[in-house]
Amino acid sequence: MKNLIDIKDLSINEIEELIKVAKDIMQAPEKYYDKCKHKKLATLFFEPSTRTRLSFEAAMIELGGNVIGFSSADSSSTSKGESVADTIRVVGCYSDIIAMRHPKEGAPLVAAFKSTAPIINAGDGGHNHPTQTLTDLLTISCEKNRLDNLTIGLCGDLKFGRTVHSLITAMSRYKNIKFVLISPEELKIPEYIKQEILEKNNIEYVETEDIEEYMSELDILYMTRVQKERFFNEEDYIRLKDYYILNEAKLENAKKDLSIMHPLPRVNEIATEVDDDPRACYFRQALYGKYIRMALILKMLEID
Ligand code: CP
Repeated sequence: MKNLIDIKDLSINEIEELIKVAKDIMQAPEKYYDKCKHKKLATLFFEPSTRTRLSFEAAMIELGGNVIGFSSADSSSTSKGESVADTIRVVGCYSDIIAMRHPKEGAPLVAAFKSTAPIINAGDGGHNHPTQTLTDLLTISCEKNRLDNLTIGLCGDLKFGRTVHSLITAMSRYKNIKFVLISPEELKIPEYIKQEILEKNNIEYVETEDIEEYMSELDILYMTRVQKERFFNEEDYIRLKDYYILNEAKLENAKKDLSIMHPLPRVNEIATEVDDDPRACYFRQALYGKYIRMALILKMLEID
């Protein structure tokens, strides 16, 4: 695999192999300390990030490699008008692998055409976030011990939330997956996801505005924040931003082994009282993100 632009670039077998390697790294990290010695990862973040950028950097450092890059377009020559294509051609001269986040959908794909180094899409606009999905799959595998036979509630901004789009795409390939899509009318899942992924693959799903309606049936509740940066109109954002606030009262009818996930950052959509609930696994999820990115770097650099 030269680049990772979309989660569909990985087969189910490749995903299972990545999860297996990530779990092995978690068990015996010392085996991997020198695997990327003399290798360089470039992190090119044209849009803000905490988890994705820092977990990629921590991943490469823990594999014995080095990291270069920038964390905002303003601190790169993009601010002088340089194109993504030119930036990528140059950064490929200095690095072995590139993780790139960009506000424009499709920018990492354009970069991949120009790059000599493998490109990893670290999030492109409201489109895709494949390494968050790998993180989510490792989380589900570790927390539930399976990736099939699950009822998954996705709640919040299902329109602009790229993590949701990638997760639906990935989970639709496993057996007996049902989705409960919980959002206000204005933030419903895009039609293309419904038609091209859910309906095409005969995946069972329901749409609701009520977070409690199907709570008792869920194995996983995946909360998302309302994506302020994708709104054209601040009034709409203010009206919708606190539409869902998950608290202990709303979890009253939930299963004892529910897993509450969130790609983070959280704004208000999960009350902090839920953090102490053993079903909350969003901070463990952030940690799993480092291990799956270690496994991905090894795979993309073709290191055993
Ligand atoms: N989950 C996620 O992509 O977080 P960051 O925006 O902090 O990278």
